[in-house]
Amino acid sequence: MTSSHSVDILDSGFVFKTANTAEFNEKLKTEVQQIQALHGIYPKLMVPVLHTGLVGGRHFYILEKKSGASLASLVFDATKSIEYKNQIIKHALDSIKTAVKIECSQPIESTYQLHQKIRYEWDSLKQLHSLFDKPVIIEGKIIIPSGRAVVERALAYAEEEIFLASSTSAHCNFHFGNVLYDETLNEISFIDPDGSVQGIDPYFGFSRFAFSFWHELAAEIRDSINIVPLEKSVLFLMKHDQHRQMLDQIPVIRSIHEISNWIGEENYRKFYALTTYCFLRSMRINGSKDTWMMPSSPRAGTPEETLYAGLMFYLESLSSTVQ
Ligand SMILES: Nc1ncnc2c1ncn2[C@@H]1O[C@H](COP(=O)(O)OP(=O)(O)OP(=O)(O)O)[C@@H](O)[C@H]1O
Ligand SMILES: [Mg+2]
Repeated sequence: MTSSHSVDILDSGFVFKTANTAEFNEKLKTEVQQIQALHGIYPKLMVPVLHTGLVGGRHFYILEKKSGASLASLVFDATKSIEYKNQIIKHALDSIKTAVKIECSQPIESTYQLHQKIRYEWDSLKQLHSLFDKPVIIEGKIIIPSGRAVVERALAYAEEEIFLASSTSAHCNFHFGNVLYDETLNEISFIDPDGSVQGIDPYFGFSRFAFSFWHELAAEIRDSINIVPLEKSVLFLMKHDQHRQMLDQIPVIRSIHEISNWIGEENYRKFYALTTYCFLRSMRINGSKDTWMMPSSPRAGTPEETLYAGLMFYLESLSSTVQ
């Protein structure tokens, strides 16, 4: 897939984001409008656009370069302690909660049929349905429901719940790469909202954050999980102790139940459905189109298998048992 843009971080203290070809100008323009709208409603949290224009027929925009780093680099930095990681993750969630609350208080145009979106993703993943039917064990935990049952639960919740269709006034893309932390000021800020999911409920932003750990493993780090065929089930095992430790000791990464502290118990079902949608969509985008087959011997997990392990572990490991 051609990359739509490049990001240049300059020593002069500015960040330039430029469309790679004119065909991506509209995408960049929409992003600028979205950033401006979000900066209008939460100015302290959203990094503003300083300037925007055309260079050689390609659209660009400029941001102030923030000190510090993205959560993607901090959370996966082996030299940082687990306590530190826990603390910045909680801090980021506090800021996301503030942002989503403001987003939800904006005039909303309509409601949204999430179950149709989930159904579309599920139908697009037909080649993986046999994986969704295999019993799974992840890091020693037997996951009780099947993947298919998880999707059915998400569909049922999606039909029951009401989803707000936000316009440009929701960020929806709070994954670790788009959340910056300045240690000196102890400040969180956001960049890079997602216009491609525009119209989805603002709570989708929380789902993107929760799914970020697994998305980093699947799409950025890669080769982070092994898949082992067993007689009746498949076993997923983390390859690296660092990742296992994060999963064990960062409660927000480990399980959906921890997020209640930020979203409230009443939004659990809505969040379950949105998070399932988030994982399925990413499995479609990042996965191969190959028909899934039980491996004949242990091998590295593919991006779609890694995301699948993440979906099952994050949503269902707490209701499951240790082998
Ligand atoms: N204003 C900023 N201050 C500091 N760092 C920034 C800033 N803007 C972007 N970055 C860094 O650049 C990275 C990529 O920027 P951004 O998220 O806007 O683009 P992207 O579309 O996600 O690009 P890519 O697809 O390459 O990840 C961020 O994860 C962050 O590390
Ligand atoms: Mg980004």
